[in-house]
Amino acid sequence: MKGLILSGGKGTRLYPLTFTSAKQLIPVANKPVLFRVIESIRDAGITEIGIVVGDTADEIKAAVRTGHRWGVNITYIPQEAPLGLAHAVKISRDFLGDDRFVMFLGDNVIEGGITPLIRQFADSEWNSQIVLTPVPQPEQYGVAELDENGRIVRLIEKPKVPPSNLALVGIYMFDEHIWEAVEAIRPSWRGELEITDAIQWLVSNGYQVYPYIHQGWWIDTGRPGDMLEANSMVLAELKPHIEGYVDRDSEVDSRVTIEKGAEIINSVVRGPTIIGQNTRIVNAYIGPFTSISHDCVVKDSEVERSIVLSHSTIENLPARVQDSLIGRHVVLKRSPIRPKALKLTLGDYSNLGLL
Ligand code: G1P
Repeated sequence: MKGLILSGGKGTRLYPLTFTSAKQLIPVANKPVLFRVIESIRDAGITEIGIVVGDTADEIKAAVRTGHRWGVNITYIPQEAPLGLAHAVKISRDFLGDDRFVMFLGDNVIEGGITPLIRQFADSEWNSQIVLTPVPQPEQYGVAELDENGRIVRLIEKPKVPPSNLALVGIYMFDEHIWEAVEAIRPSWRGELEITDAIQWLVSNGYQVYPYIHQGWWIDTGRPGDMLEANSMVLAELKPHIEGYVDRDSEVDSRVTIEKGAEIINSVVRGPTIIGQNTRIVNAYIGPFTSISHDCVVKDSEVERSIVLSHSTIENLPARVQDSLIGRHVVLKRSPIRPKALKLTLGDYSNLGLL
């Protein structure tokens, strides 16, 4: 089997972070979502992986390179415009050939990886396997309607009135019959070739599409709130370790990871939390569900349930930073007026002086 990762798109809902960074490279628990996707495909035993790239191609290539570090071979497939997931499949035909493949959206994070799913599909006679999961707002996704035997009746992309609460998770498996399907469909109302329509075509034409119901959590990291949620979930699963320095005046609990070269001085750190390489935490409180990337400083301040990207400084703040997503090279320092809470989505290189 081969792997296909979709890593294009503008990430408009994550502006301003995505002005300067591809959305798939924003880290959760200090590791880019895209790297987590590559690892989960690799863990399923797949070593030939294609990545479909768009406007942010250069940045994605610079971060991922050949794939050597994961023991996989990466082939980059340029998509000239975001014309839909089925379009991305279409342009990947030379890379995929007639092999079975798994397609994984590069901004999706799922509990427990995909190894069992892929094994199940690789050994099966099915032409396709999709992953469904119950969600509270199905109208934001592709939605499946199943019959009483659990077979797919129909699939609809972002229906106004959803026939069920089962959303299509961004992980799909196909055999060579997908080629006929992506040729047969036409662009949707949003001008895209929808993968949901291609799968519907397979169902309508008598091919076997198996709906796997995923029971754990799944997050499509489109918006800042989703990033924080994914961060919390992944942190909770992380196996903690301490490689940095913790002084005697600090209190660090057993769910905290402290990476190499990091220093915790006279501070309280409560997990699940990760403190990145060479980051300094001084006279500070870092609360649960926080990821602080490498080369940051948090001093005389409190941070909780937030993501702070590399080279940022948080100093002497009068209120706790909470539920915030902070870019790279951000400087956040105390200024005279005291907001009681801080809710921030700041881009890379922002320099914020609060009133
Ligand atoms: C895409 C698919 C949708 C699926 C979702 C999962 O939506 O079209 O069917 O449920 O990914 O993340 P999009 O991100 O293009 O809105």
